[in-house]
Amino acid sequence: MTKKVLILGGDGIGPEVMAQAEKLINHLKSDLDLRVELETGLVGGAAYDETGSPLPNETLARAKDADAILLGAVGGPAWEQLPFDKRPERGLLGLRSELGLFANLRPAMTYAELADASSLKPDLVSGLDVMIVRELTGGIYFGQPRGVRNTKDGEREGVNTLVYKESEIERIAHTAFEVARKRSRRVCSVDKANVLECTELWRDVVTSVANQYSDCELSHMYVDNAAMQLVREPKQFDVVVTTNMFGDILSDIAAMLTGSIGMLPSASLDSDGKGMYEPVHGSAPDIAGSDKANPLATLLSVSMMLRYSLGDAELADLVSNAVETVLKQGLRTVDIFRNEGQCVGTEQMGDAVIAALT
Ligand code: IPM
Ligand code: MG
Repeated sequence: MTKKVLILGGDGIGPEVMAQAEKLINHLKSDLDLRVELETGLVGGAAYDETGSPLPNETLARAKDADAILLGAVGGPAWEQLPFDKRPERGLLGLRSELGLFANLRPAMTYAELADASSLKPDLVSGLDVMIVRELTGGIYFGQPRGVRNTKDGEREGVNTLVYKESEIERIAHTAFEVARKRSRRVCSVDKANVLECTELWRDVVTSVANQYSDCELSHMYVDNAAMQLVREPKQFDVVVTTNMFGDILSDIAAMLTGSIGMLPSASLDSDGKGMYEPVHGSAPDIAGSDKANPLATLLSVSMMLRYSLGDAELADLVSNAVETVLKQGLRTVDIFRNEGQCVGTEQMGDAVIAALT
């Protein structure tokens, strides 16, 4: 059956890196028999400029109808002064919550060829392979009440609420253990149970879910320690499962261990395997339109989409192997260039990955 993929370029370098994804998918269709139908839509600042909303109804309807979504990036200085509900980020958060994409998988792998590009010593990071499983539709990002209000004493106070239901913790814990079963079977749950009751519950629930996975090992870590351990001895981790906000922060740390945030894909999944796939890097407005963006995170996101939503592990491997091949060939975009190999632009990198498929 032909599956539907919705491409949302978004802002900044989003459209440029998505163009490489589109080129790759069209190649997989024509030469490798991939059956998908591509559609495009507006999201983020680009959608606001055109329609007045960062997540137009039409985009949301198409996203609901699609089997998978590829998203570039949203945001940029042009929209920073807008009221909260019009900002590009609301488009992204709206998609996550409206589609129920509660499980965010953020792998951080250091390719041997790029160990020198990391800010840590090469031996600390070479061979690193961590998977951060971030809860994505709950916690302080969505909890009520929220906002800025006036107090009786005539000053303003800002409020956000950290709240998790048991069922929300259970389902993300199951995701983490299922993912761990395909890896080294070790899960580290990260919380702040020494201070926050909500994450004390998190710890309890993850511990009871672990009883159903006696083949996996569970450990717990406070988030401050986890941040330190990630830069001290990152290879101790296999799967890290954590809340929405802790996952936001820890996944950026993990990203930098790999040398460049330009290398990292992500998947955000619902309970039926439908997913939205995004590079972890942002919209990088400073380099937008200059053919400097690294498209590899996006092409690796296509690989994750093939694996998790389109059920084609073989093509998924083919794409991720092609990325490794171009790195071995010495091709580098500027973010991962360290005086060795050949510095290439976005387009050329995209073409090289396609050429390396065969
Ligand atoms: C991310 C981003 C988003 C988040 C922003 C753009 C809303 O930082 O995907 O990590 O905080 O989740
Ligand atoms: Mg983030």
